[in-house]
Amino acid sequence: MGSLDGVAETVLHRRYLQQDEEGTIVETPDEMFRRVAANLATAEAQFGGDVEPTEERFYEAISNLDFLPNSPTLMNAGTELQQLAACFVLPVEDSIDSIFTAVKQTALIHQSGGGTGFSFSQLRPEGDVVKKTGGVASGPVSFMKIFDAATEQIKQGGRRRGANMGVLDVTHPDVEEFITSKSDDDVLRNFNLSVATDAEFWEAHASGDAYEIVNPRTDATVRQATPDAILDEIAEAAWETGDPGLLFLDTINEHNPTPHLGRIEATNPCGEVPELPYEACILGSINLGQHTDGEEVDWEKLRDTVHLAVRFLDNAIEMSEFPVPEIEEMVTNTRRLGLGVMGFHDMLVDLRIPYVSEGAVEFADELIEFVHEESWAASRQLADEREPFPEWENSIREAPMRNATTTTIAPTGTISLIAGCSASIEPIYNVAYTKHVMGGLDIVNDRFVDMARERGFYSEELVEDLHGWTTIQNVERIPDDVKRLFQTAHDVPADHHLLVQAAFQEHVDNAVSKTVNLPQSASVDDVKEIFLSARDLDLKGITVFRSGSKPEQVLGESPLK
Ligand code: CDP
Repeated sequence: MGSLDGVAETVLHRRYLQQDEEGTIVETPDEMFRRVAANLATAEAQFGGDVEPTEERFYEAISNLDFLPNSPTLMNAGTELQQLAACFVLPVEDSIDSIFTAVKQTALIHQSGGGTGFSFSQLRPEGDVVKKTGGVASGPVSFMKIFDAATEQIKQGGRRRGANMGVLDVTHPDVEEFITSKSDDDVLRNFNLSVATDAEFWEAHASGDAYEIVNPRTDATVRQATPDAILDEIAEAAWETGDPGLLFLDTINEHNPTPHLGRIEATNPCGEVPELPYEACILGSINLGQHTDGEEVDWEKLRDTVHLAVRFLDNAIEMSEFPVPEIEEMVTNTRRLGLGVMGFHDMLVDLRIPYVSEGAVEFADELIEFVHEESWAASRQLADEREPFPEWENSIREAPMRNATTTTIAPTGTISLIAGCSASIEPIYNVAYTKHVMGGLDIVNDRFVDMARERGFYSEELVEDLHGWTTIQNVERIPDDVKRLFQTAHDVPADHHLLVQAAFQEHVDNAVSKTVNLPQSASVDDVKEIFLSARDLDLKGITVFRSGSKPEQVLGESPLK
């Protein structure tokens, strides 16, 4: 087993290791890795594969922290729950029956560790007629509050609070209320919000025309609105609270691998997986810092890990039990995987490429193209060995594949703490800081410490001092070339965040969860500019985060992560 640091030990003890009925921890981290590897390897038997050697390979990869699956897999594989997916989308139709069925399904999913996304665009607007009772409808935002209250009460597997994504179409009559619904701190605390936009909206924006606001129940146009004015409102709310973000549904659906099954209208909570209603996705992330020799990328090892991870995640689909039969059926039909990366900044440090550089964007492109191509190759091999996903013949995939999608960039909020690496494709928060979750985690960047020792400027006092800063750029004791390698989230300009997001989005077939950080001094217009650039860069969605804009801010991160 690789070495777990103190932070990893704390996180595993608090949230992941199995407990008995009295709450006593009954497994070690090593036993956890063994439990997960053994459980997922048993799927091999169904396809005539070798269980034991596969278990060893899975165990090696996860216990060495070369690759980790999403939290529900680590928590639930080989246990009574056995629900392994993090990302769900549920349908919400315009009836009390459908809304409360979705509330119940949400509760079951949260209880098993998953997060849920919904489009509320089909719900009739506030004040509309309700024939059955002769009353008036309360509208999407008030129903979202019911999902929020349910979420508040149900901890995911008793270990963390659930997360939701609420989507409303920009043509919905309640869109303005939706946009500003989080300006009160206590409302919809367990929701991220996204306004869904389509080609028509952007065409109207480009030509300066109005667009139609439509009642989804009657399809009647209720009024006209100006795209640019709505974008101003979205930018203002996002400037103030971080919500809403935008979804680009036309771009998302251009890449929908199974359009015959329906149009995609929502994503999971952090935005990295656009899904059809009842689809679910199991994520896994390769720890890039474990795939260098300290100076260069170990491409052979990376290829091996990608192939192993695709097999691992396909086995996970086989082994996962879902709390709702419709989900079981959809997942079996599309077999969507979400393989991604974490420790991107760590890898850049090893390669001596500053995060804020053209070289970093070029390298991101090269790296993720490799990961993506190899993951498709692995999925094709599995299609040969097993079978293509059942909906393959009707899909847009030309060659047989085992999975409708293979790649995603997830936030890796917790698994990067277990792996001791930089999160996802994000710049580091700082080289040394205290993260105020789980009783306080003291995070110190190993690569920085090693380099400081080698270069002779290390001291305990320096590391202590650095805890008080969010950048090291003004610290005289640190040589300039080292400063350049350890640029933090605060040193990265918003347009560079976008270029990194776009480089990854270019190749992954799901989406990219990325925090576009803005300084506290950023203006509403800056936020709007980012939205427009995101559209120009063909992204699938965009979220901004202005420093200090959220009261619950945990050191620059959204409270949901
Ligand atoms: O690191 P970890 O596997 O715990 O999760 P992540 O990569 O930060 O988030 C991946 C996905 O897990 C999110 O997009 C959500 O769908 C889900 N999630 C959740 O349901 N509840 C949370 N508190 C955090 C994440």
